[in-house]
Amino acid sequence: MKIVVIQGPNLNMLGVREQHVYGPMKLEQIHGQMKDFAEQNGVEIEFFQSNLEGEIVDKVQECYGDANGIIINPAAYTHTSIAIRDAISAVSLPTIEVHISNIHRREEFRKTNMIAPVCSSSVVGFGPFGYHLAMIGMLQMMNEIKAAEEAQKQAPQA
Ligand code: DQA
Repeated sequence: MKIVVIQGPNLNMLGVREQHVYGPMKLEQIHGQMKDFAEQNGVEIEFFQSNLEGEIVDKVQECYGDANGIIINPAAYTHTSIAIRDAISAVSLPTIEVHISNIHRREEFRKTNMIAPVCSSSVVGFGPFGYHLAMIGMLQMMNEIKAAEEAQKQAPQA
C-alpha cells in the first residue's frame, strides 16, 4: 500500500511562518513522524511539496495507478483551485484533506473550500498532529476497502 502526501504553497515555510497559527514544527519534522508511522505499519509513503498549482495537479494525476490514497494540504489553493479539485475528482482515490489551522474560525475567505467536497474526509484544526490523524484515518479506510473487496470475492455470484 502506498500513500502520497501532497503539500501546497508556503508549507515549506512551516516553523518560520506565522508560528502563532501553525506552530513551530518544520515540514521535515512532520514528514519524519509520518514516515516513522508508515514504516511501523508497513506502508510506503512519498512526500511532495510545491508552491505551484499546476505541479500539484500533475502530482495528483501521477497518483493514478501508483498510489492507494492521498493526504493533501492544498494550503491557499484550498480556497481557489478548481484545477486541484478536478484532479482529485479525476483520479478518484481515497483522499484526506488536512489543514493545520481551523480554517472555519479564521478569515471569511478561508471558509470557501473548493477541495473538501471531493475528498473522503477532512482533518482540520489539530495543528501538525492532524497529519498523524490523517494517517490513522487512511489506514482505517484502506482496511475497510480491503474487507469490502474480500467480502465481494466471497459473495455467491448471481
Ligand atoms: C492551511 C490553511 C490555509 O488557509 C492557508 O492558506 C495555508 C495553510 C492550513 O494548513 O491551516 O497555507 O491549509
